[in-house]
Amino acid sequence: MTFNLDAPLYHFNGEHAFTTRQACEGVQILGGIGSGKTSGSGAALARAYLRAGFGGLVLCAKKDELETWQGYARETGREDSLLIFDNSGEWVFPFLQYEIEREGEGAGYTENIVRLFMTVHEAISRRTGGGGDPYWTSAMQQLIRNAVDLALIATGSVSVPVLYDIVRTAPQSMEERFSEQWQDESYCCQLLLQGNSQNLDKWAQYDFDACAAFWMREFPAISPKTRSGIISMFTVTADCFMRRPFRQLFSEPPENPERIAYPELTQEGVVIVMNLPVKEYGDAGRAVQVVYKYMWQQAIERRNVRENPRPVFLWVDEAQNFATEYDMQFQATARSSRACTVYLTQNLPNYFAELGNKDRVHSLVGNLQTKIWHANSDPETNTHAAEVIGRSWQTRRGESQNFGGQALNFGQSSNESFDYDVPPQVFTRLPKGGPDNANVVGGVVFQNGRSWEGNNTYLFATFNQR
Ligand SMILES: Nc1ncnc2c1ncn2[C@@H]1O[C@H](COP(=O)(O)OP(=O)(O)OP(=O)(O)O)[C@@H](O)[C@H]1O
Ligand SMILES: [Mg+2]
Repeated sequence: MTFNLDAPLYHFNGEHAFTTRQACEGVQILGGIGSGKTSGSGAALARAYLRAGFGGLVLCAKKDELETWQGYARETGREDSLLIFDNSGEWVFPFLQYEIEREGEGAGYTENIVRLFMTVHEAISRRTGGGGDPYWTSAMQQLIRNAVDLALIATGSVSVPVLYDIVRTAPQSMEERFSEQWQDESYCCQLLLQGNSQNLDKWAQYDFDACAAFWMREFPAISPKTRSGIISMFTVTADCFMRRPFRQLFSEPPENPERIAYPELTQEGVVIVMNLPVKEYGDAGRAVQVVYKYMWQQAIERRNVRENPRPVFLWVDEAQNFATEYDMQFQATARSSRACTVYLTQNLPNYFAELGNKDRVHSLVGNLQTKIWHANSDPETNTHAAEVIGRSWQTRRGESQNFGGQALNFGQSSNESFDYDVPPQVFTRLPKGGPDNANVVGGVVFQNGRSWEGNNTYLFATFNQR
């Protein structure tokens, strides 16, 4: 298969080309509940990406996402490409082991693992209310950094259960360090002794000394209230990987190395469906998918597109569940790594509630260059759409009203005003598909800098549901 960036993947209204290059610049689909996001524009693009031979990663918020993708794969002859990652354990991904063993610059460094945890923390603390305060964030980073270093130096490996045990058995007071019971029972103490007895080179010895000083001097000296706050920030995050089914799927060494769901598989055309829906597994389902997405994004950024030219997609319906800070960075490099992101969500307030900050939301939505708006009753989303499309001089017919058979005109019969090309209220009336609309979904498509028919900056597009 050859992959030409300028070959059309799809034609809006059967005539306006949508190319791989444009797909790499990202797509944001917005529309109210039941407006036709999934069955209209979403289905059209998903089938196009599959037909073109793309690999991809599909995150699952709803339980029916898998079934939807099995349908697309059937319709496009891609059934053999699906890799269903679910709770059966058929596929696993021991993510910390992958992170320290993978090839490439930066592998094995503690900071990558710290960032990984902070990304999960960011995604789930939005719900639990923590996070945001720089003191706590840096305290948690310090805790993770020292736990990872201790595990790596003492055992040569790292896993979530090991980090968890280190933190759980760390000395809680200056006195406890000297108690025989702590020395006999603490896993943290055991690893410190193990690390101490190793023959380390100069640099590893410096790392170990700093880490031993943290666990033996700094950590027990923190005030109990602060310390328990830091520990609970860590355990809330780590917990997601400690329980069934996620411990087996993400934290333990794999029984069968052939069944590790490497993110790199997508470059060979595999479509990985993370069938661990948030609706079913809650925050843990969200946390593991956020980790997988983050590691996939990094793997795709590392790849050499000359050796591996196949475009890949990231498909995220109900995207507010999974959006993170890193998405903005990822979008900046997406074209050179041939990664086609599609985010679907109902409205902007969904993003505001999850990302906590309007600037971040505008940066995320602004970075996804193709926007498709479906019917919506959210005024903020509709006004934003109208603003993005822009204003120009409009000629509108003057208003008139019929009073007892007599037409009464207000003002001129026509007047000029500088106004929205597509006023917000238009978005409340777009067809939502289903039998009432002959299974046709309507949407407004916008691409920065592109003009469509009639020199318009937007296109009214229709999508047939099947
Ligand atoms: N294949 C189909 N043929 C005809 N109608 C359909 C089809 N799939 C869905 N519909 C109907 O079309 C409408 C749009 O559904 P769709 O699931 O695409 O909306 P959505 O925007 O994805 O909604 P949500 O936010 O709930 O995910 C709904 O009324 C739905 O019942
Ligand atoms: Mg949907």
